[in-house]
Amino acid sequence: MSRDVMKVREKKDRYRVCYMSGDDSGYDMMEGALLVLEAMDLPIDWVRADLGWCIWEKSVAKFGEGDPRCNTVPPETVESIKNTDAALMAAITSKAGVKGFKSAILQMRQLFDLYINLRPAKSLPGIGTPLKTDPKIDIVMFRENTEDLYAAVEFYPLPKEQFDLHPGMERFKKCSEVAVSWRVFSKEGCERIIRAAFEYAKETGRKTVHCGNKANVIRQTDGMMKRVFLEIAKEYEQYGIKGIEENADATAMWLIKNPQDYSVVVASNVFGDILSDEASQLTGGLGFAPSGNIGESTAIFEPSSGSVPKYAHKYRVNPCAILLTSKMMLEYLDMREEGAKIEKAIGEVLVENRPGTLTYDILRDFRGDPDWEKNAASTLDMAAAIAQKIDPAFTGERLENAKAKVHDMCDWNKTIGFE
Ligand code: IPM
Ligand code: MG
Repeated sequence: MSRDVMKVREKKDRYRVCYMSGDDSGYDMMEGALLVLEAMDLPIDWVRADLGWCIWEKSVAKFGEGDPRCNTVPPETVESIKNTDAALMAAITSKAGVKGFKSAILQMRQLFDLYINLRPAKSLPGIGTPLKTDPKIDIVMFRENTEDLYAAVEFYPLPKEQFDLHPGMERFKKCSEVAVSWRVFSKEGCERIIRAAFEYAKETGRKTVHCGNKANVIRQTDGMMKRVFLEIAKEYEQYGIKGIEENADATAMWLIKNPQDYSVVVASNVFGDILSDEASQLTGGLGFAPSGNIGESTAIFEPSSGSVPKYAHKYRVNPCAILLTSKMMLEYLDMREEGAKIEKAIGEVLVENRPGTLTYDILRDFRGDPDWEKNAASTLDMAAAIAQKIDPAFTGERLENAKAKVHDMCDWNKTIGFE
């Protein structure tokens, strides 16, 4: 069997980790994350890389609009990821309708074959769930991350010969415009994501793995997914793990009705994209949703949240998603205990609810504070409060020095790439 992909390639005394702020509020989030990690004095050497809209603009300035070399990911960043043990990314900005623009994270998933999109949804103390019964939720979603409609095999306009590929296309011949995106599944692709989900259940003592699919309608692709799932599930019966396959629309419904019945969930790319956002809403929303893109070669940890352009460099967004994402990264780097400290500290700050420690979104959405705007803490205030739960001596000069250091590390005027 191949190596355990959920862990770094090689165990070391010190790790080199690539950090990528991305765009806009991504910088604010990254500063918050680095501040907490700085307080923990971890054996990590940080390597800066950049990607996203800021890099796209630089490439356009260098090569000119419409040049095929324009990209959101510069070669420097690809090299940095290759030469480090893992990567932590904040958030990038995408703009619709820009010709030639390709999402940086989608490119990285393909380029590094990061086939697992690991998306935990766990209720946090002080946040809870929006459900009346407030059940304890602890779901780990394994979303396939490279195939399906994300294979990007698309046609518009549809070439003539494609209309003759299948009798089902007959009725579209009279339509004025037809666009087609191929939904590509491979047996290897299904196998590796499903196996990763079952292996994880085995490693962590979880007893069920659900597979949301639409084999009842989409017979070939989801049919394959279901078939492979049931085969692999048999292998894991001996460990007391039950594989449950069901229709993905039913999964969406039951996730709201009975979320406590779900533990590990595996899904194809598009269904996993949707189901993971839904699961995140059960535990505070995207502002608290960590995620990791993991493959044989490396892993890029990236919160599900967006880059909130309107608050760029205003330090408004809460640092929880990227900190929980950092926790996942520390687990990957075999620093499980350190990761657990971060989660515990976040919970303590949320429960304590001290003035000057919670950002506007938490005050507004979870505390119902009518003065949320006025009372809001900055990303860095909240990060400092979290860091102080881990190390109460992270104050005074030490805190100020760390702030200056991470601010410099995330200088948005100094992006690397396409010089
Ligand atoms: C996600 C996002 C991305 C996706 C977008 C931003 C390309 O929705 O990570 O879930 O579709 O995978
Ligand atoms: Mg998504």
